[in-house]
Amino acid sequence: MTLDILIGMQWGDEGKGRFVDMLSGEADYVARFAGGDNAGHTIRIGERVYKLHLIPSGIIYPQTFGVLGGGMVINPCVLLEEMQMVRGAGVRIEPDRLKISHVAQVITPGHRALDAAREASLGARKIGTTGRGIGPAYEHKARRSNLRFVDLLDARRMEEILRRNLESINAELNGVFQQPALDVEPIVRDYLGYAEQLRPYIADVSEILIDALDADRHVIAEGAQGALLDIDYGTYPYVTSSSTVAANALVGLGIGLRREARVIGVAKVFQTRVGEGPFPTELRDEIAAYLRGDGSKQWDEFGTTTGRPRRIGWLDGVMLRHVARTNHVDELALTKLDVLSGLEEIKVCVGYAGVQAGQEFLALESAQPVYRSFPGWTGDLQGITRWEDLPAEARVYVEFIEEISGVPARWVSVGPERNQLIRR
Ligand code: IMP
Repeated sequence: MTLDILIGMQWGDEGKGRFVDMLSGEADYVARFAGGDNAGHTIRIGERVYKLHLIPSGIIYPQTFGVLGGGMVINPCVLLEEMQMVRGAGVRIEPDRLKISHVAQVITPGHRALDAAREASLGARKIGTTGRGIGPAYEHKARRSNLRFVDLLDARRMEEILRRNLESINAELNGVFQQPALDVEPIVRDYLGYAEQLRPYIADVSEILIDALDADRHVIAEGAQGALLDIDYGTYPYVTSSSTVAANALVGLGIGLRREARVIGVAKVFQTRVGEGPFPTELRDEIAAYLRGDGSKQWDEFGTTTGRPRRIGWLDGVMLRHVARTNHVDELALTKLDVLSGLEEIKVCVGYAGVQAGQEFLALESAQPVYRSFPGWTGDLQGITRWEDLPAEARVYVEFIEEISGVPARWVSVGPERNQLIRR
């Protein structure tokens, strides 16, 4: 098996980072294929915890080669800061082991300003974006007017495209949103500087990855966000602006269809979301507060990128099954089983009242979940490393997740540490 595609099966924050980390120990290439610095992976290097938003987290292993794929939107300022931070942690970041796709799109302060202006103007209908300029950058990509990394190779060309882009954004900020225009000159100056620093890192990464796969090297395509935030198949319009599904790993990296790919779907054993949008199984009671935690622990349910408290609910088995099918998930990696300990009863949504099975996504806004109830368990699961040692009720619960999703659970995490993982 040479290509592992790892995706989130919910609304992001499933705990993908730990599985990327686990697989990266033996990988040759680690590649991001979509999104930008709206993503956040928490990783640990030695005693310290770092938050990575752009660089694939597998880069911390010395044998890996990191790739920022063509499906991404990248803020060069954030990228350079992140490269510096990772270097500071003792990780070697040089052009011989990190490449940015020449077709990746560039995020500018203009995109961030538009993101903020648009959200403010939407009022109660706001998306709840991360404010990183992701949506506007993808819009400008679709308009065919945006700056790409290939343009950074030619300073004159870059300046021309950047100025044109910023002027059009300023006209929109002024005219549509009555917001002050951005000062173009300092931005152009900064971007010329970023281009200078990033130039050696820009490459046609498709060619690099195709050679790697042909040579049977192990490539990990690291998904960001989750399948329910996909621009086409997610809970539109409350989604991100990129394609987060497994099939887009091939497009976002430009590597063509691969029969030998393995899709690993990461899912939390309950449901969370940041930002607005439909959430049929949402809880607003003390169970939600219990599952969220108070923010004192690294794994409590507060956004990695924005720090916002996450909305919490019972596992939506209907959505999980649909995502498993539409992403052809081969193996499940379940997270946070330990967090459910102490609940008397645990519920899983198995259908929406009055909606034909398989057609639930047509009725999300008004969905009335139908639950199946499971007995809870007590006790700390964090020290358990063998499946047989889990409380019987916890095993029954996991087996039901396998049944409803139609996918075997290969890994179950019972704590935030690397070794707090049960393999099956
Ligand atoms: P955007 O990607 O910043 O445009 O935000 C659009 C929606 O996606 C918002 O609901 C965000 O909260 C959500 N979102 C974007 N990135 C992530 C992520 O990495 N984890 C969880 N939610 C995310």
